[in-house]
Amino acid sequence: MTKIDGNTGTAGLLGYPVKHTKSPMIHNTLAEAYGDNLVYLPFEVEPGALGDAIRGAWALGVLGLNVTVPHKQAVMEYLTRIDPLAKALGAVNTLVREEDGFAGYNTDILGLEQALIRADIGVEGEKVLILGAGGAARAAAFLALKMGAREILIANRSLDKAEDLAQSLMQSAKSCDIIPQKVGRMHAQDGQTDIRAITLTELADGCRGGKDAEYLAFQCTSVGLSPHDTDCVLAGETESIFSMIQTGVDLIYKPAETMFMKKLMSDGKRAINGLDMLLYQGVIAYELWRGSYKGEIETDRQVLDRIRELLRGD
Ligand code: ATR
Repeated sequence: MTKIDGNTGTAGLLGYPVKHTKSPMIHNTLAEAYGDNLVYLPFEVEPGALGDAIRGAWALGVLGLNVTVPHKQAVMEYLTRIDPLAKALGAVNTLVREEDGFAGYNTDILGLEQALIRADIGVEGEKVLILGAGGAARAAAFLALKMGAREILIANRSLDKAEDLAQSLMQSAKSCDIIPQKVGRMHAQDGQTDIRAITLTELADGCRGGKDAEYLAFQCTSVGLSPHDTDCVLAGETESIFSMIQTGVDLIYKPAETMFMKKLMSDGKRAINGLDMLLYQGVIAYELWRGSYKGEIETDRQVLDRIRELLRGD
């Protein structure tokens, strides 16, 4: 724990609610590991008070902030600069103090990218299936576009949300506007990514009788989240969709093995959970605050392992 004195800096999380957050544990561990004189605190901010909170944080000299539900979109109007990837995604989860105000980034998407790279799961040229069409699905779908997927198929319970997401992906693919200036690099987009939206039931109908397992699937719904460990978004009439999946990434990290993952693994397929996405989104945010993140994580592997253990044990 940092010894608080006259030079202690402050960072924190803006959300509503924030009581469940793991961010203070991640960031205070990083501050300790780096020997930074910094404390990270949760700030519960009601939606109507967001502007005051950002202006207040700026006036108080706060070095950096994370932003979570329900502020990830609304926060954008209070920023002086937004990273193009976060702008294309339409969501900001990290604010970095700059000379004239806070700049906005989305480290959820960058964290997922790191998790995939480190698990050696390639996306370039792959067929990608996105299950869900909420905020988490948005991050996974934009990452698939950024990493050069050949096809992005968005399957959701309700079609309208899947179509909205497909539409904004197409917009970005056309305008080539998700080339991060500071972090990461965008693959050349030449309109070659095939983007489609479909309902889960329609997709399942097309899978009856089996399919070639050629998709990398991102499970981005809340189904299966602890304590509902035995639930799975692909069940009953939609279970046939499993036949088209080769590798699965569940964005849920608790339980460590979701029912979605278990079913894939019992068929000899590969599946990972969302723990490393959570870990790396926090680490990248911290490194952005230190000015050290340029697309590669520099935090020591032992420190990463320590935080991973703490997240697992929680
Ligand atoms: P998040 O920001 O975590 O992605 P969200 O925006 O509330 O959360 O999105 C939740 C996603 O889970 C949505 O895609 C939702 O489907 P709908 O758009 O049809 O609501 C999906 N979801 C939630 N419960 C589901 C269920 N029982 N079966 C299928 N999909 C479900």
